[in-house]
Amino acid sequence: MSDWRSIPCVEKHKEFLEKLITVLIDSTFESVSRENPVLRWRDPAHLQDIIKFDVQDGPRSQDNLLEIASKVFKYSIKTGHPYFMNQLFSGLDPYGLAGQWLTDVLNSSVYTYEVAPVLTLMEKTVITKLLSMFYKDENGATVGDGLFCPGGSFSNGIAINLARFWFRKTTQSSKRISSSNLVLFTSQDAHYSVLKWANVCDVKVILIKTDSSGKMDITDLRANIIEEQKKGNYPFSVSATAGTTVLGAFDPLIEIADICQEYNMWMHVDAAWGGGLIFSKKHSVLLRGIQRADSILFNPHKLLAVPQQCSLLLTRHQNIFKDAHSQQASYLFQKDKFYSADLDVGDKYLQCGRRPDTLKFWFMWQAKGTSGFEKHVNHLMTLSALFKEEVEKRDGFELVTDSCFINVCFWFIPPSLRSQYSLYNYKEQINSVAPKLKEKMTKRGSLMINYQPLHEKPNFFRFVIQNSGVDTEDIYYVFDELENLGESM
Ligand SMILES: Cc1ncc(COP(=O)(O)O)c(C=O)c1O
Repeated sequence: MSDWRSIPCVEKHKEFLEKLITVLIDSTFESVSRENPVLRWRDPAHLQDIIKFDVQDGPRSQDNLLEIASKVFKYSIKTGHPYFMNQLFSGLDPYGLAGQWLTDVLNSSVYTYEVAPVLTLMEKTVITKLLSMFYKDENGATVGDGLFCPGGSFSNGIAINLARFWFRKTTQSSKRISSSNLVLFTSQDAHYSVLKWANVCDVKVILIKTDSSGKMDITDLRANIIEEQKKGNYPFSVSATAGTTVLGAFDPLIEIADICQEYNMWMHVDAAWGGGLIFSKKHSVLLRGIQRADSILFNPHKLLAVPQQCSLLLTRHQNIFKDAHSQQASYLFQKDKFYSADLDVGDKYLQCGRRPDTLKFWFMWQAKGTSGFEKHVNHLMTLSALFKEEVEKRDGFELVTDSCFINVCFWFIPPSLRSQYSLYNYKEQINSVAPKLKEKMTKRGSLMINYQPLHEKPNFFRFVIQNSGVDTEDIYYVFDELENLGESM
């Protein structure tokens, strides 16, 4: 059998796949070993030379493909490495990985029960469980519905569309309210996807001021709502954040819920990052008020370290997904099927074909139990508190702002700039430190930690972790490495 046929055949592919699995398993353990670098930096021209990216007319041999697979691994970033602290995702959970591999063998799409019976029930189980954690009505019953989405940005977008749909439905108006008269409020520290999707939906956005810790300023929110009403516009939604991207701040959800109730606005909470705290009895207090949200975005691929991507949009409105999205395509969602049409969840979604992101999450959940996720979250919070303490203790490190969550934002002040605040270009000099250090650590492959400026603040580092394989010793390593790299600056 030649290789152009899309079917595995024992004689031709078994040995190849077994060898590939060996490469994958070896790579898994190599990628998380502290003995190995986080990355092997190569500039693009060099990388083009190492991996021949061009595709060719004829097929490559299986040996050649195995060689390519090894190189792809070798020169990619090891996001499961304990020293990869660059993004709001990291880690390589063994059970999540197993769930991911299982997902790929199935190559399924979750729209109808006939195509995805197991996955449909699995999705329903996970969504119902999460709804019961985030939302409960007065009688303790679970309410609402949920969607798995291709990432948090997309979930934020769907929330804007739902808010608009709901607002138009619940507002008495003799004519359809134009999108351009609809106003959404979010903080200036909210994720940029809110702005992008507001743009796609053509609704106006007002950015609300934040305080020094990054929380939305409620007085400014109220003033802006009143101002927009005076202009004849329709304030229709507040997009609050529970765990902002850079500072890790939590907007005051209870006050925002009160304001939304007062002005008949949809309250969305972007808990892409902070949502995982719901698993921790100790730390879920940071999410107080979230149960009053009309919709909640939660990314298990962030704080819970579920493999990418795993994102959910939850709502307490039972039927709104169907009401807002359903098109009843007759080739998929036939009314005369022999089983209940409710099992065909695809019509609630904006996508047609859809990866079963539920499987890896459900599999991890089976492996760890809810208590395992709780321990994971508590461990991360403990390490992050330790990191903050060290910043406060060590010479040459300065906190940007006090933190209550995982994010610890700090400046590294190199020896030559210590106690030099009166220098006329001190801020400019500080601004150049983080990019230089980042270049050094990237080229050495010893650490990946992100930096950014924010508002008037010069570049600073943002420490974050999602990998519960990180230990106390790793925290000290980060400080030692930064000191080492910045010694001569
Ligand atoms: C607060 C917040 N919301 C939304 C997102 C977007 O999530 P995703 O990367 O899954 O699109 C991010 C990403 O970092 C985020 O920090």
